[in-house]
Amino acid sequence: MKDIQSNLQAKEEAATRSVEFIKNNMKVGLGTGSTTAIAIKKLGERIQKEGLKIECCVTSFQSFLLAKEYNIPVYPIQYFSSLDLTIDGADEVDSEFNLIKGGGAAHTLEKIVHSMSNQFICIVDESKHVKRLGEKFPVPIEVIPEAISIVQKQIEKLNPVNMQIRMAQKKDGPVITDKGNFVLDVKFENFHPEELEIKLNSIPGVVENGIFSLYKPHLVITGGRKEIMHRK
Ligand code: A5P
Repeated sequence: MKDIQSNLQAKEEAATRSVEFIKNNMKVGLGTGSTTAIAIKKLGERIQKEGLKIECCVTSFQSFLLAKEYNIPVYPIQYFSSLDLTIDGADEVDSEFNLIKGGGAAHTLEKIVHSMSNQFICIVDESKHVKRLGEKFPVPIEVIPEAISIVQKQIEKLNPVNMQIRMAQKKDGPVITDKGNFVLDVKFENFHPEELEIKLNSIPGVVENGIFSLYKPHLVITGGRKEIMHRK
C-alpha cells in the first residue's frame, strides 16, 4: 500500500529532529510506520549515549519490537493517563494540520495515544503534504469483522469513489489489525475532515477511522524543510 523505502533521507532528517524534543523524565508515545521506526532507533541511540530516563508506550506490535530491539522502556498504554509528547508519522497532512493515517493499520491506537498527549509532533517528508485531504490516500477504517457487510452498506450511502477491504500480502485474505479487525480503505472525492471523521465513527461496527482532525499535531517536521510548522 505504501512505499517504505521512499524518501529515506527526508524521513531520517524529520525523525532525528523530532527526537531532540524528548527530555529526561518525559512520558513519550511512539507511533507506527517507517518514519517513526527511524525515530525509535534514534531514541534508542540517545538512551544509550546520554542515559536519558523516559517512559514510553507504543501504538503497534511493530513499534513494540523496535523499542525492544533498542532497549527503550515500554509500558502498556493504560499505565498512563497522559503523555508529555508523542512522535508519529502520517500518510497525508493538509495546511490545517488535518491528517490521514492508518497506512500501517495502526490508526486506532495512534489516535488514542495522540488524544493523551500534551504535544504531538508529526514527522513527514514532502510527499505527505496535500492541498486537500484524501487527494492521494483512501481513508482507512478499522471494522469489527462481523460488521463488515453492514458497515460497507452504510458507507455506500456516503458516496465513496472506491471501497476495498485491505488484503494481506503474505496471507490469504484480509489484513488483520493488531486488535483482530479488518480494514476498509475508502476513497472519498471531497469531504470536510471533521464531519467525516465523526460520521464514520458513528457507524456501528467501526472501531476507528484514519482521519485525524480532532487531535491534530502541534508541530509538523518535514524532512528537507528548514522551518518547523506550528499549529495556529
Ligand atoms: C500507521 O498505521 C500509520 O498511521 C503511519 O503512521 C503512517 O502510515 C505513516 O507511515 P510512514 O512513516 O511509513 O509513511
